[in-house]
Amino acid sequence: MPSCCFLVLALCAAQTLCVTIDSVPGVDGKGVILTELETTVSLVCRSGRSEDEGAELVWLRNGATVTLGEGNRKGQSGVCVMPVIHQDNGATFTCRLSANATVEASVTLNVTYPPMLSGSEAVRVEDDSPLVLDCETFANPPVSSVRWTLNGSALDLLAGGFSMTQDGFTSQLSADKAEKSKHEGLYRCIADSPVYGIKSRDFLVTVTEKTPKFPLIPLIAGAVVLCLSGLLAVVSRWKKIIKVMWYLQ
Ligand SMILES: *[C@@H]1O[C@H](CO)[C@@H](O)[C@H](O)[C@H]1NC(C)=O
Ligand SMILES: *[C@@H]1O[C@H](CO)[C@@H](O)[C@H](O)[C@H]1NC(C)=O
Ligand SMILES: *[C@@H]1O[C@H](CO)[C@@H](O)[C@H](O)[C@H]1NC(C)=O
Repeated sequence: MPSCCFLVLALCAAQTLCVTIDSVPGVDGKGVILTELETTVSLVCRSGRSEDEGAELVWLRNGATVTLGEGNRKGQSGVCVMPVIHQDNGATFTCRLSANATVEASVTLNVTYPPMLSGSEAVRVEDDSPLVLDCETFANPPVSSVRWTLNGSALDLLAGGFSMTQDGFTSQLSADKAEKSKHEGLYRCIADSPVYGIKSRDFLVTVTEKTPKFPLIPLIAGAVVLCLSGLLAVVSRWKKIIKVMWYLQ
């Protein structure tokens, strides 16, 4: 990533009104600034013509006005994106003359980041229960491939009764009913990024014996019956209570 360049976006012809944006890191021919997460992008806007020195400038991020401090508006105005976050990817920064919104310049951020895959996770699943493993593969640029291995060999989807879905954010591997002999082992999700190379995450899956489920439904039914009869008892007694109160008056 170039950190050296201080690049002028557009050169102003002397007779036209214009604003220019200088940026660190520099901007490419299409007005795109290539940057990474956690870094800083600084943008400086200048109004072009000498008679506009002192012309008020406005900054917008994706069309919404950026609040600028006093003394950061006239003739020259700087904004800093610090630190760069995921949501800055694709964000467009526009600088324009406050007095004439048609005089403007824009730059767009391209924030690259690798898939956030590392380390390992222990997963316990009961015999006969669904096994679901999620692998977060979203990245910019998108990963070119995702694959899964089990105990170091390519996963046999058919033999393991696995299904695999992928939506650009997550690669999900699942099996309806976990079986110790088929499904226990070390799974690895491996994503290949055209910029950041291979990234992977491990899932150490243990299939445990089924624990008998607590009979919750009969218990709830029992509790309802108990409550109802309790209520009835109060109701029938209430009549007596009212009678007693009548006598007392
Ligand atoms: C705004 O700037 C444009 C381009 O320089 C110019 O054609 C137009 O007349 C200006 N409008 C006003 C209201 O000054
Ligand atoms: C952002 O930069 C990456 C890496 O150079 C590139 O592959 C991708 O196409 C760029 N995206 C956009 C929207 O310019
Ligand atoms: C994977 O390896 C572990 C440890 O050697 C073994 O217990 C397990 O059965 C293996 N899993 C499969 C599906 O072969």
